Amino acid sequence: MTADSPEHRPGPHAPEKGDAQPPEPVLKRARFLASELARHNHLYHTLDAPEISDDAYDALYNELAELERRWPGIAGGESPTTKVGGKLLEGLAKERHRHRMYGLDNVFSAAEWSDFAERMRRAWDEAVNGPLPLDFWCDPKLDGLAVELVYEEGRLVRALTRGDGETGEVVTEAVRTMASVPQTLAADGLPPALLEVRGEAVMFREDFARLNERQEALGLKTFANPRNAAAGSLRQLDLSVTESRPLRFLAYSLGAAEWGACPPCLTQSELMARLSAWRFLTPPDGRLCAGVAQVMDYAEWVRAHRTDFPMEIDGAVAKLDLLEAQRVLGFTARAPRFAVAFKFPAIQAQTKLLAIEIQVGRTGALTPVAILEPVAVGGVMVSRATLHNEDEIHARDVRVGDTVIVQRAGDVIPEVVGPVLDKRPTGTEPFHFPHECPACGEPVHREPDEAAWRCDNLACPARRLRAITHFVSKAGLDIQGVGEKWVEQLVQAGRVQSPADLFTLSEADLLGFERMGETLARKFLAALETARTTASLARLICALGIRHVGEQTARMLATRFRDLDELSAASTDALLELPDVGPEVAASIRYFFETPANRIVLERLRGLGLWPISSGAALAEPAAKKETPLDGKTILFTGTIFLPRGRAQALAEAAGAIPVSSVSKKLDYLVAGEKPGSKLAKAVALGVPVLDGEGFRRLLSESGVKIPDEEFKE
Ligand code: IVH
Repeated sequence: MTADSPEHRPGPHAPEKGDAQPPEPVLKRARFLASELARHNHLYHTLDAPEISDDAYDALYNELAELERRWPGIAGGESPTTKVGGKLLEGLAKERHRHRMYGLDNVFSAAEWSDFAERMRRAWDEAVNGPLPLDFWCDPKLDGLAVELVYEEGRLVRALTRGDGETGEVVTEAVRTMASVPQTLAADGLPPALLEVRGEAVMFREDFARLNERQEALGLKTFANPRNAAAGSLRQLDLSVTESRPLRFLAYSLGAAEWGACPPCLTQSELMARLSAWRFLTPPDGRLCAGVAQVMDYAEWVRAHRTDFPMEIDGAVAKLDLLEAQRVLGFTARAPRFAVAFKFPAIQAQTKLLAIEIQVGRTGALTPVAILEPVAVGGVMVSRATLHNEDEIHARDVRVGDTVIVQRAGDVIPEVVGPVLDKRPTGTEPFHFPHECPACGEPVHREPDEAAWRCDNLACPARRLRAITHFVSKAGLDIQGVGEKWVEQLVQAGRVQSPADLFTLSEADLLGFERMGETLARKFLAALETARTTASLARLICALGIRHVGEQTARMLATRFRDLDELSAASTDALLELPDVGPEVAASIRYFFETPANRIVLERLRGLGLWPISSGAALAEPAAKKETPLDGKTILFTGTIFLPRGRAQALAEAAGAIPVSSVSKKLDYLVAGEKPGSKLAKAVALGVPVLDGEGFRRLLSESGVKIPDEEFKE
């Protein structure tokens, strides 16, 4: 992975604990790690499309956490180490959790576990006089999607995904289609007045395999792993899709609880029994462990049996059994102090590397893929694995003919760790990365500061296929049912050569393809029609696949430009004025709109009526600009104010402001709360107006956005 390439490493600076001034290379590395983690968070949590294994992610995360531990201050309150989950999907309604949904801290060894237990004991000593009861409820860590179910007077009234931890997506109706979710809490006595049951929506491995077979047969997109399948099935606007998917909910903890006339649970074990009595499924093989050593034995037992579980397990979780002790210990910025996850190492296997295939991506990047003699890795057959890029192949000296170690971390795309040198046959040769595109034969090039070789030929069939696949994918217009397999067939048949061609398909065209019946063809065309008539400008900009323009930038552009005409007419200088747009992004936008092939596609989209006008377009009109003080203004939050960060951003957006992630002289307002970190100093130096919580509240109120009194806790 490029993240670990040597040029990014901070080098042999022996960092001293408590040293307040980290050297520049350390800062640089920390910034790099933070931005990589943010990117991978987005891929994993928002797009359900991870690029790296959990292990690789954990390695980046731990490295950053370690740097932040040694140099407190580099985190500045904005670090991914203080965040949980991802951003929210457009389309689903959002709602705040009564209590934040935290992640779990990880331990990887017995030593780390005893350190964690020791910290628990110390925190307890500070708060309470007396010994900490060391009974732990332990269960397997399920690799699915965290969900909260809200029961009022024993009735299911709402279901939310974790979202960013503070605000989740409302998935009530989708959850109601799941047989494993009780609609009411049936009990002898009265139900609690309010109970928020938290747990994991998962797909069993067998169900996942069957679902993928079915998707494949229908020419729909298949899922990379059960977790993505579960997430994609639940975060659905089309309930018939959720209903057809084999999802299950397993309960493991509570959010808010008002027990009312119902006797409260005092321990986690009691809670688990009560959840079962209410007919919830719970994680299999949970058990009460007395003392630190028994917990370790349990985690070891789960690890040894991880592939015997019907669902993907990526660790074991230990929680203090006494709920009062959980309450006393509470939470750090990111995770509970009373619970921890034992993460398991990736499962590895050895197999022969038969060939190295080069895939051409949407932006022309060439990615090497290992073609392997099929091997079972943790119960899943693997025949392809990523080799990342040329440097990675050379750094590991992986050669065709080698026996290689392949790993998967219970989920995501498998990767080649390296060759087993003892088993290298004679006559193997270092791999030569091709200098021509394997799809179109044109020469490829590599920028000095980039890891990837690229094919620049816009007419390259492989690039075209990828671009169209991206256009219909979740990251693009999210056209349901128009998956990769169909795009591939349509492109191969020559019927579709650009995204615009999709909208000219007729039922007769589609019926010519194998496995395409009338019902499916109609659904297919209806999905395209919905996309054509309802796509927002932000979605369309994203779908075009302009290099360096992701979801956030696309959304910002859609608030600044009325339509693609205005955006394509914007000069580099005008683009550079925009928040979060640097020279690279501006150049890439210009390049996209100046490329004749792209102009042709855009004109066709206009002709087809796919030419959305931005709902935030009023901002681009000077007369509307001064309407309210926050209209069209960029805003950044740092430190703690009276509202959770996500909520503050949402309110700012409601007032017409555009939240951004970095301080520059283009920033209109910095809202600084307690412990603001380095952003404040930078903003002051650049002359950016700084507001406190009260100032922010005033501007909101002048913009017509009121904060309900109960949210105002200053
Ligand atoms: S207990 C406050 N138990 O893993 C602690 N969480 O990566 C409540 N998870 O945020 C969580 N299996 O969403 C608990 N058996 C289990 C779990 C589990 C999976 C999830 C949970 C957590 C995430 C951290």
